[in-house]
Amino acid sequence: VTIAVDGALEQIRTIVGPSHLLSEQAVTTSYESDWTGRFGGPCLAVARPADTSQVAEILACCRRAGIGVVPQGGNTGLVGGSVPRGRGLAPDRTAAPGQQVTAGQTGGPPLVLSTRRLNEITRCDATSLLLEAGAGATLGDAQRAAGAIGYELGIDLAARDSATLGGMVATNAGGIHVIRHGPMRTRVVGLEAVLADGSVIRRMNGLWKDNVGWSLVALLAGSEGTLAVITAVSMRLVSRPTHRVTALVALSGEGQPFSSRQGAATATAVAVAAGLQSRVDGIEAVEITYPAGTTLVAEKAGLPYPPRADSADAWLTIEAAGSSDPAPYLADALANQPGVLDAAVATDSTRRRQLWAYRERHTEAIATLGVAHKLDVSLPLDRLAQFADVVGPVVEENWPGSTTICFGHVADGNLHVNVLGPPADDEAADDAVLRLALDHGGSISAEHGIGVAKVKLVAQARSGAEIGLMRSVKATLDPAGILNPGVLIPPPSS
Ligand code: FAD
Ligand code: MLT
Ligand code: ZN
Repeated sequence: VTIAVDGALEQIRTIVGPSHLLSEQAVTTSYESDWTGRFGGPCLAVARPADTSQVAEILACCRRAGIGVVPQGGNTGLVGGSVPRGRGLAPDRTAAPGQQVTAGQTGGPPLVLSTRRLNEITRCDATSLLLEAGAGATLGDAQRAAGAIGYELGIDLAARDSATLGGMVATNAGGIHVIRHGPMRTRVVGLEAVLADGSVIRRMNGLWKDNVGWSLVALLAGSEGTLAVITAVSMRLVSRPTHRVTALVALSGEGQPFSSRQGAATATAVAVAAGLQSRVDGIEAVEITYPAGTTLVAEKAGLPYPPRADSADAWLTIEAAGSSDPAPYLADALANQPGVLDAAVATDSTRRRQLWAYRERHTEAIATLGVAHKLDVSLPLDRLAQFADVVGPVVEENWPGSTTICFGHVADGNLHVNVLGPPADDEAADDAVLRLALDHGGSISAEHGIGVAKVKLVAQARSGAEIGLMRSVKATLDPAGILNPGVLIPPPSS
């Protein structure tokens, strides 16, 4: 049965209440464009359900009317999956010229389903070592709840005060502690989700071991809103270390067999990261930044220049934690590492935060320069330096005059390549970087997901059989294709 879109909207208004179906442009705008400013398009309306049963009713209604649904949490995603399709918003709220903004079977704009009201933390206890929360709870709120009982979540990223647990499951977010505790997929033990037909799947029994067939977590982690709307998340807590040390370490690439400073410094960084992991217990983070980004952050954030700003080829932000002070072990290990020039070390939280700022504030500092092409790739560790060596010149070949700023999670082999210069809708530089990663045996998405930004390249990154499997899972769970159309799964023509 097909019902008219207007009728469906009226039903959704009744389901969520008039104040939680937003359709005025002034209030929908922030839901229609993404964090990068590169992606977005007009929506039919924004629905803000209060609970799981409202989500279920909304999806059933959209399915009957053939309305596309874009699940949205904190809208901090960087690949255009959290907003309606299109290229930014023109002032008259139509799509930019030549861009399609269709979604769902009606061909009209989609409904944005915001999970932000599903933000209650329903359980956090030290006996079961579990935190349970609505999918719209922010990472920051969940971290504070865990901290209040002396625990941590084992996952952290700079967007913590906006990114939601549901969005982090949907993207299988990584962040700065992946080398110690794994990505979101490994932190989550239970989920509740609503399928496209409105049925609710709930597996939140708190069991750490529960092998009755397939894992709902494994299915939905990284599904980017294409298979279900996640409504609640259960996460394992980890103990809070009594000691934590952060070091900002200046590196030299001298003596490394690469032609650029960036390639040489990356080779040093990979060697230092491996040395630290073998010699110091409790290494939680090893992050890399280079001169272009680090000095930009210092200038934009008004920070003093980092150690050896005049000569360093890169910096590592290193964190180690444990039940005894790791600082002496870290200092000893760094003293024996070739290429280490200097280090600033902090153990108190204020000073540690100051050292982290050089790394964490890269995203916002880069955004002040314009709309960046954000390319999040991973490489085998033994090829990371080679990739870092050539990526800048390869981009310049495609876009003379462009700027490439890299940084990332070096111990995970994960580099964030930010290209500035090419217009937002130009994909030549994106393609060049992503193909370069594939040529080096790497991945086109380390942790941000595919969204709409990289969907064209999925056919290069996965076999026909794998894509066939993705499509059949999608067709089974969402036969009408209402959930986040255009995201992640390549269209049949590709
Ligand atoms: P959104 O942006 O709202 O959505 C992201 C995707 O998930 C979309 O496809 C959306 O449809 C889907 N989705 C959202 N909620 C649900 C739900 N409940 N059910 C089903 N689908 C849903 N990412 C990292 O991995 N590591 C980092 O270190 C990192 N650092 C960042 C730093 C900054 C400053 C910023 C701006 C972003 C960073 N990100 C990082 C990217 C982003 O924070 C993550 O991708 C995060 O997981 C997105 O969460 P969100 O709630 O904002 O999701
Ligand atoms: C980060 O590690 O800071 C992020 O993933 C965000 C980015 O790539 O800008
Ligand atoms: Zn990252």
